[in-house]
Amino acid sequence: MKSKSIIAAVAASLLTGLGCSAQEQPKVSTEPSRILIAYYSWGGNTKYAAAQIRKETGGALFEIKPVKPYPADYRECTVQAKKEIQEGARPELSARVEDIGKYDVVFIGSPNWWSTIAPPVSSFLAGHDLSGKTVIPFVTHGGGGMAR
Ligand SMILES: Cc1cc2nc3c(=O)[nH]c(=O)nc-3n(C[C@H](O)[C@H](O)[C@H](O)COP(=O)(O)O)c2cc1C
Repeated sequence: MKSKSIIAAVAASLLTGLGCSAQEQPKVSTEPSRILIAYYSWGGNTKYAAAQIRKETGGALFEIKPVKPYPADYRECTVQAKKEIQEGARPELSARVEDIGKYDVVFIGSPNWWSTIAPPVSSFLAGHDLSGKTVIPFVTHGGGGMAR
């Protein structure tokens, strides 16, 4: 699928899903320089999905990276993640998108962690002004789907 049709399909589903009228269309751009694909990935699946979106849209990739990486051990990672999610933690990120204003469309990818987004993605959302932009979430998961 080419970038224009992807964006159009997403825009159409956004409009249908949100019940927007034709006058209330979100800002949609098919210009690659106005598309950002921000993602967090612990094990590589979400990174792979982000790369596919980049191939289709030509947008810019931004990896959301916590200053302190999560444990490499899966079980340890799940324990830490559960605690942070329960506490509403927003771990410090190693970088932010300084020129967020130049993007109209922002894809945001996260693994499903305990049925929600990973804490670094919460930090990203809290640290960037996305008002007026078309935000397109994407999630990879182990069977739980988009969940919350
Ligand atoms: C801390 C942690 C919690 C997870 N919780 C869930 C979950 O609640 N539901 C689910 O379907 N998958 C869960 N998974 C599996 C991941 O969502 C899945 O493997 C995902 O594709 C990983 O993406 P990544 O390789 O980009 O990190 C969890 C994985 C981790 C590490």
